[in-house]
Amino acid sequence: MLILGIESSCDETAAAVVENGRKVKSNIIATSLDEHKLYGGVVPEIASRRHAESISGVVSEALKVAGCTLDDIDAVAVTYAPGLIGSLLVGVNFAKSLALACEKPLVPVHHLRGHIASNYLSSDIEPPFLCLVVSGGHSHITAVKSYTDIEVIGRTRDDAAGEALDKAGRTLGLPYPGGISIDKLSPEGNENAFEFPHPKVSTSIYDYSFSGLKTKVINYVHNAAQKGESVNTADLAASFQKAVVDCLLANLELAAENFGYDKIVIAGGVSANSKLRAQAEKMCKKHAWSLTLPELKYCGDNAAMIAAQGYYEFKNGTVANESLNAYATMPIDNPVF
Ligand code: KG4
Ligand code: ZN
Repeated sequence: MLILGIESSCDETAAAVVENGRKVKSNIIATSLDEHKLYGGVVPEIASRRHAESISGVVSEALKVAGCTLDDIDAVAVTYAPGLIGSLLVGVNFAKSLALACEKPLVPVHHLRGHIASNYLSSDIEPPFLCLVVSGGHSHITAVKSYTDIEVIGRTRDDAAGEALDKAGRTLGLPYPGGISIDKLSPEGNENAFEFPHPKVSTSIYDYSFSGLKTKVINYVHNAAQKGESVNTADLAASFQKAVVDCLLANLELAAENFGYDKIVIAGGVSANSKLRAQAEKMCKKHAWSLTLPELKYCGDNAAMIAAQGYYEFKNGTVANESLNAYATMPIDNPVF
């Protein structure tokens, strides 16, 4: 079965063709990242305009590279939530028109479920497993019981890990996105130079809080500035990255032990982080747990992961009609459309 996936939830306009949820036939991405760099973050209006300009060409290219036409496609899968509403609407409307015109089923896909499915593209992992989903907007520990039955065990109560990394990067004067800049700079710094607390969250032992860590970075920088001193940026970046990774993995380890999972998976933009990947490797080795990570090219937003999850959602009977809408927020465990 061939699924055409379409993704436009943030600043990447993406289309891909994936066979049976696993085999990537094409994966095309156009991004407006360079324009957003000027402003230190994604400007929604610019992102929407670029999506509208690129989407038609990106979808055509995905079909061409896959060596197929719309006739060969079995269903159109599209990210409908969560994300920037103006961005999502471009992909959703394009997918709806395509599905209607070509008389193909339309499959709505939750963006974070797509991130989890990025792991199906380069490994033969199958549920059940425990998955840490860490992106610019979300940080969840999820129990993936089946391809479409997902339970949230823990979540951030304030900033997402990626968001905290991006904001800390900005405070440190590093280029956007801060997460990538901090990852690049950290090997040059001493990760024990600055102290960070391990925030405890009252709601659940599996929940996260990153805003306090982020504020600590701001305080270190401001205190130094007030004294006329400068902070060692590489040291602070490395220490902050270590703190974020330690928090992410501490709760993940606890959840795996308490819920009895020995298959660990990580997904989302932050899963590209080299410290997180290395530390997760160590943690899983210690417990003799298996670890699955997406290939770097599938960590960030792409449509192959949407087509992969779309395949499993479609097999589970999830099909939308032309009234499908886009939603800025939507729970991963019980998505409605
Ligand atoms: O999943 P994603 O591409 O978009 C969302 O769904 O949000 O995640 C983007 C986030 C950004 O916060 C970015 O800084 C972070 O992923 N990111 C990284 C790395 N690459 C991307 N964070 C740390 N290390 C990286 N190598
Ligand atoms: Zn994403």
